[in-house]
Amino acid sequence: MCGIVGYTGPKQAYPIVLKGLQRLEYRGYDSSGVALLKDGKLSVYKKKGKVAELEQEMLQKDSSAHIGIGHTRWATHGEPSDRNAHPHRSANGRFAMIHNGIIENYAQLKNELVSKGYSFSSDTDTEVLLNFIEHIQTNNNCDVEEALRIALKRVTGAYCILLIDEQDPDTIIAARKGSPLVIGVGKGEHFLASDASPIIEYTKEVVYVNDYELAIVKPDQLILKNLGNEKITPYITTLDMELAAIEKGGYDHFMLKEIFEQPSTIYDCLRGRLDANAGTITMGGIEKNFEQLINANRIMIVACGTSWHAGLVAEYIIEEICRIPVEVEYASEFRYRNPIVNKGDVIIAISQSGETADTLVALEKAKENGAFIFGVVNVVGSSIARISHAGAYTHAGHEIGVASTKAFTGQLAVLMMMALKMAIKKGTITQERYQQLLNELQDVPEKVNAILKNAEELKTIAHKYKDAGDFLFLGRGYNFPIALEGALKLKEISYIHAEGYPAAEMKHGPIALVDEKLPVVFIATKDSYHEKIVSNMQEIKARKGKIISIITQGDHISPTLSDDVFSIPPADELIAPIISVIPLQLLSYYTGIAKGIDVDKPRNLAKSVTVE
Ligand code: M6R
Repeated sequence: MCGIVGYTGPKQAYPIVLKGLQRLEYRGYDSSGVALLKDGKLSVYKKKGKVAELEQEMLQKDSSAHIGIGHTRWATHGEPSDRNAHPHRSANGRFAMIHNGIIENYAQLKNELVSKGYSFSSDTDTEVLLNFIEHIQTNNNCDVEEALRIALKRVTGAYCILLIDEQDPDTIIAARKGSPLVIGVGKGEHFLASDASPIIEYTKEVVYVNDYELAIVKPDQLILKNLGNEKITPYITTLDMELAAIEKGGYDHFMLKEIFEQPSTIYDCLRGRLDANAGTITMGGIEKNFEQLINANRIMIVACGTSWHAGLVAEYIIEEICRIPVEVEYASEFRYRNPIVNKGDVIIAISQSGETADTLVALEKAKENGAFIFGVVNVVGSSIARISHAGAYTHAGHEIGVASTKAFTGQLAVLMMMALKMAIKKGTITQERYQQLLNELQDVPEKVNAILKNAEELKTIAHKYKDAGDFLFLGRGYNFPIALEGALKLKEISYIHAEGYPAAEMKHGPIALVDEKLPVVFIATKDSYHEKIVSNMQEIKARKGKIISIITQGDHISPTLSDDVFSIPPADELIAPIISVIPLQLLSYYTGIAKGIDVDKPRNLAKSVTVE
């Protein structure tokens, strides 16, 4: 949550920072602001609302400085407002700072500062940290770097901060713990950001800053240190990413672009790994530690949100074909309860961003307890990718829309390949079934493509039901997690209350909600549960609920029970979730659009949830 950008070099900083904020807006859009330093004078401009508001505000301002920092906020401490927007200025006006994360002991630090005469102009934890740094600096008469080091040793919580000092005309000081920071290394210039998207346009050479590291960044110098003031050699990596990947490419919204990219992102995920002709799956990151995985007594899957839903699908598949017990945990619960992690247990962490705070901390805890961690992550070089012992990237490319779409299908493809690889090695699947599933998996991109060609049908359905107050999503077996995912997508993007349920569980409570106004979406593809789900449709129809069903082409029974139908190509039931989710993504997209919602930036959400 929150996006941060910084620039120091010969160019004008503001246009770079502004464009960077626009690219990072998916991380939060409650307010934004910039601090610019020119001729020894620090100017801070900030505005409640989206980055466009700030851009407007800046039209008449002098923005010609060559050093600047900018922030787009997802509010934690203090409501979205101009005064709580970042950057914050220290009480003496000398420093400006932006922050992504949460300072958990801010109340204690604030009390200390208040007792020393400090007062505050915002409700944020950031202003407290900044004044704490200022207090140490003035009290100890030390340089700001030293003050920062002392302050950060007292801080609990998560942070990535960028700080500029009125008395130091070209330096940005940065530090991170738990919130991401990438530094782009240009020719006589440096770029700092929460992810690489603001940087890619200028340089592909980047340094990922690690926890407890401090960066002193000047146009032609980058010094990395630990909190003990020891220098660390920056490790420069080259980004494997193109500018086009982070632009809309002719689509109205990133979400739509990302939905339509799925035939190619799933293909990219399978490419070089799955060879159906040869009957092989090659996954370098998994193979090195394969024994660990196949001999696991138990697999625990740790994730949040949509990634958690991918974990549920994986649970069903791994238990079915690998016969290894699987538990799927919400990372936010796992990190605080006292889970039993035994020797021989393996953790699979699933995360699009690789920065989700709950997942990251859960993994740190599991790692301390000796667990072996496989990461299934989309963002290369992200914190979760780095904390994992081994893993596989989903190769879905940069996902910008807040609603996760292509990353989810990438996760399912990776998890399916992992399960198949384990199953054939363990001998818990026949060669014939294995080959059949390889063939099916290989056909997924084509089937997704076929669904996308009929997207307009879902637009019509979305318009019909856009004013509903509630939705129910029902599925059974492998499609039960897809019902949960359909409901989550609709909530996020259309603000319609929606619940996902196993179809048979519906009669234990949710059926009380059914009346002629309630749309019920059935994921009723042809599988071993089909007759059962048809009975559940009958139960809804008997109570006059409106039935929208996602069915397999050629199914003649379900349409007779449904008010609206969308057909998808036939697929093996283990593979079906990767394709049955596509119409649900489109349904929520078109519903959100029909309701006039900014689907790429729905209210209260952020793409990367780096606070707990
Ligand atoms: O980056 P992650 O996969 O770890 O994120 C987990 C959730 O925050 C994320 O899936 C969230 O639920 C999405 N907005 C769903 O569309």
